[in-house]
Amino acid sequence: MLSILCAKHLGATGVVATDGDEAVVDAIRTNLFLNGLDVDDTSRIQVRTAALRWGHPIDAATFPEDYGMSVPDVVVGADVTYDKSVIPRLVSTLGEFFYLNPALEALISATIRNEETFETFLNACRRNRFSFEQVDCPPVPEHQQKGPFYPTSTPIQLWRVTRGRYMDDAFSV
Ligand SMILES: C[S@@+](CC[C@H](N)C(=O)[O-])C[C@H]1O[C@@H](n2cnc3c(N)ncnc32)[C@H](O)[C@@H]1O
Repeated sequence: MLSILCAKHLGATGVVATDGDEAVVDAIRTNLFLNGLDVDDTSRIQVRTAALRWGHPIDAATFPEDYGMSVPDVVVGADVTYDKSVIPRLVSTLGEFFYLNPALEALISATIRNEETFETFLNACRRNRFSFEQVDCPPVPEHQQKGPFYPTSTPIQLWRVTRGRYMDDAFSV
């Protein structure tokens, strides 16, 4: 949904939608098709899809070939901090992106089901000397939502993560 939003409404010039699970990538393709974004139509941008497994090195030399676009300016992640066990790999991949593009900004939307789990993500960002700040983005009360629709019973926070001024080329999780 985020990729569709970026392509259709936010003026992105290139979008690649990724997940580490091939079945999810297939589902993304179906959703792009249903939203008319899979076609190679020069009047609108095409959203590409790729399997991207966090924790694996990203090769700058083959990035355009692997992902169909140059290294992005913005990485957007929804509900990717849901489990402590995935956080080291997620943060490692953010570090890879900051290395490839030091000006890159990551926008991470976190559904806070468990505060300790989310704190693990912030601690890993801290250890890697990323800069991070919460973006003021209060939820729209459910009866006022016009779409996209989402429940407000579980808090959703938006965080901006950037390379940080003191980040070394080497990073740790
Ligand atoms: C809670 S789901 C969120 C999915 C989607 N972003 C959304 O908001 O509906 C978390 C996603 O993280 C993906 N994931 C978990 N570990 C991963 C990894 N190591 N590399 C890439 N994706 C991973 C899972 O496949 C899953 O689709």
